[in-house]
Amino acid sequence: SEETASGEEEMAEGDDVISIGFSQVGAESGWRAANTKSIQDTLTAENGFDLSFSDAQQKQENQIQAIRSYIAQGVDVIAFSPVVESGWDPVLQEAQAADIPVILTDRAVDSQDDTLYESFIGSDFVLEGEMAGEWAVEQYDGEGYKMVELQGTTGSAPAIDRKEGFAAAIEGSDIEVIDSQTGNFTRTEGKQVMEGFLQKYDDIDLVFAHNDDMGLGAIEAIEAAGMVPGEDIKIITIDAVKDGMQALADGKINYIVECNPLLGPDLAEIAQKVVAGEEVEKRIVVEDLAFDQEAAAEALPDRQY
Ligand code: AHR
Repeated sequence: SEETASGEEEMAEGDDVISIGFSQVGAESGWRAANTKSIQDTLTAENGFDLSFSDAQQKQENQIQAIRSYIAQGVDVIAFSPVVESGWDPVLQEAQAADIPVILTDRAVDSQDDTLYESFIGSDFVLEGEMAGEWAVEQYDGEGYKMVELQGTTGSAPAIDRKEGFAAAIEGSDIEVIDSQTGNFTRTEGKQVMEGFLQKYDDIDLVFAHNDDMGLGAIEAIEAAGMVPGEDIKIITIDAVKDGMQALADGKINYIVECNPLLGPDLAEIAQKVVAGEEVEKRIVVEDLAFDQEAAAEALPDRQY
C-alpha cells in the first residue's frame, strides 16, 4: 500500500498483496481438513494474498496467541474460526485498536459488540440441527425411539446450535433423548463415547452425531458390539464429507445434513473488499443441502470433499 498526503493508506491499482493471518480451529475432522484446503488453495500468492496460517489444536489460548502475533506482525486482515463462542472480546478489542479488520469464518463469537469484526461467513448451525431433527421426526416418530447424542466441542457454536435446532425439531415427537455427551468432533472420541453408551444402555435406537467423524466413530463402536449400524441403530450426522457420504451410501448412516466447508473463495472476496474499504455484509450464510442414502450414492462421484 502507499501513503497518501493525508496519511491514509491507499490500495495501489489492485496489485497490492494482502497479508492475512488465519487461525484455524485444528485438524479434528474431515470437514476441517477440507476447510483448511479451501482456505490455503484460495489465499495464494497468485490470488494476491500472503497467508500466515496457524493450527490451534482445538485450544482457545493457542488462537488468542496466534491472533496477538498477527496483530504484532501488522497484517492487513485477521481471519479465524473460533474454537468456542465466548471469551473473545479482549483480543478482538486489541485488533480493533490496532486498526486490523477481523473476519470470522465457520463459527461465531457471542460478543455483544458486532463492530469487533467485519463479517461472519458460515453455515446456519441451528438450521442444520433442525433439518436433521425434522427428518428424524418424519422417519421415526411413533416408534418410541431412544436416542443418544454425540455433541461437538463443548462451548463451540456448532455444538450449541445443532443441539438446540435438533431439540426444537423433535419436540412433541416421541423420540426420547436418553443421553448426550461430547465427542469433541473427533472420530476417536466419538467411538469412545459411543462405547460408553452401549455399555450403559441396551435399547439405543438412534444416534444424532454433531458431525460425520463422530458418527463414523460410533459406527465402529456399534459394529464392535455386534450390531449393524444404519439398521439396528440408526444414525444421523452433519457435514457430508466424503467418508460420511460413503458410509451413508453403504447404508451405515441414515441421513446427513451438509455443512459446506469451502469457505476460501468467500473469505478471499470479503478480505479484498474490506481492505479496499468497501462495505461488506455482517453475516454471509452458506447454504447447505441434505442427503438420504440414495441421494448420497448419486452425489458421491462428483463430491469435492
Ligand atoms: O464448525 C464446523 C464443524 O467443525 C464441523 O461440522 C465439524 O466437523 C468440525 O470439526
